[in-house]
Amino acid sequence: PADALRDRYGRTAVDLRVSLTDRCNLRCTYCMPAEGLPWLPKPELLTDDEVVRLVGIAVRLLGVRQVRFTGGEPLLRRGIVDIVSRTAELEPRPRISLTSNGIGLERSAAALAAAGLDRVNVSLDTLDRERFRRLAHRDRLDDTVAGLAAAATAGLTPVKVNAVLMRGVNEDEAVPLLRFALEHGYQLRFIEQMPLDPQHGWSRDDMVTADEILALLATEFALSPDPAPRGAAPAQTWLVDGGPAKVGVIGSVTRPFCGDCDRTRLTADGQVRACLFATTETDLRALLRAGEPDETIADAWRATMWAKRPGHGIDDETFLQPPRPMSAIGG
Ligand code: GTP
Ligand code: 5AD
Ligand code: SF4
Repeated sequence: PADALRDRYGRTAVDLRVSLTDRCNLRCTYCMPAEGLPWLPKPELLTDDEVVRLVGIAVRLLGVRQVRFTGGEPLLRRGIVDIVSRTAELEPRPRISLTSNGIGLERSAAALAAAGLDRVNVSLDTLDRERFRRLAHRDRLDDTVAGLAAAATAGLTPVKVNAVLMRGVNEDEAVPLLRFALEHGYQLRFIEQMPLDPQHGWSRDDMVTADEILALLATEFALSPDPAPRGAAPAQTWLVDGGPAKVGVIGSVTRPFCGDCDRTRLTADGQVRACLFATTETDLRALLRAGEPDETIADAWRATMWAKRPGHGIDDETFLQPPRPMSAIGG
């Protein structure tokens, strides 16, 4: 629509990512220190009604067609099934997806599917129980694997698996992770690690690059470019051994896709961000709580997106990590 979320570089945001909580039940080393982080206080979190109102404004007034719920770990949000079902009632009905660590999906996948959830992406960096315990500081590998199976059974397909490879930590699992995904019919994507960790420990040299990931996979599989159009997807995909199975690489750092970005983000405390790496936010919660009408909130959202920068700027001399870590932005 003419009143969509455009920016000055010609991009239009139709994909909304909503963080439902900054909390998590895992402590993946690249995302959260073992002791956790200072969580957002409850009164600062959007209520379920507030989340649904903002998603409704995005869908009805701003042309958003796809809504992804993230966290932290979104399944820790009590109202998630209700939030999904109220999102599914919006006109025009958006596509609805979830990014989760899989813990709790075994219990909730069927209810989420019935509420209108279309599909899930589950993070899984290792298949080794002891390594999972070290990487995530919790002994929950079995829960994640069971959550994946439950998602497939509930029809939340295609089920995608996200793996972050770390040098000297789990690179040796590139091939086993792909075998696992192929065996179960999940679509695996390897992700280049981005500078979004609260410890500010990211270094370019530690990052396993897209080129390295592809070289690791090429030792065991024949990869050919996926002929399907990529659109604005972060993942570049390849057919495995001629297809139909695919594997993806999300090369945010060495193969950035910002020029095609179609995303807008809402944090659990009601701030709109034009980009994962934005250094400014717009406080929609304040507008909501001041009793402003939908159109005023929509205007503030449009203004935020208009000011979106052309790219993440990780390669710039002046790059600064955003003040919020990934878990509070919503990956
Ligand atoms: P699909 O629609 O299923 O392909 O989802 P997705 O890959 O966009 O989402 P998911 O939540 O599974 O994210 C996978 C990885 O991509 C995570 O590491 C995200 O942080 C990263 N990612 C998602 N959106 C963006 C983005 O706009 N920019 C960058 N640089 N990375 C992103
Ligand atoms: N860089 C890249 N991906 C990350 N994730 C979390 N932190 C980072 C980071 N710094 C991934 C998680 C999850 C997804 C939502 O984002 O592993 O799969
Ligand atoms: Fe879009 Fe920012 Fe991600 Fe680039 S880094 S793809 S601009 S959200």
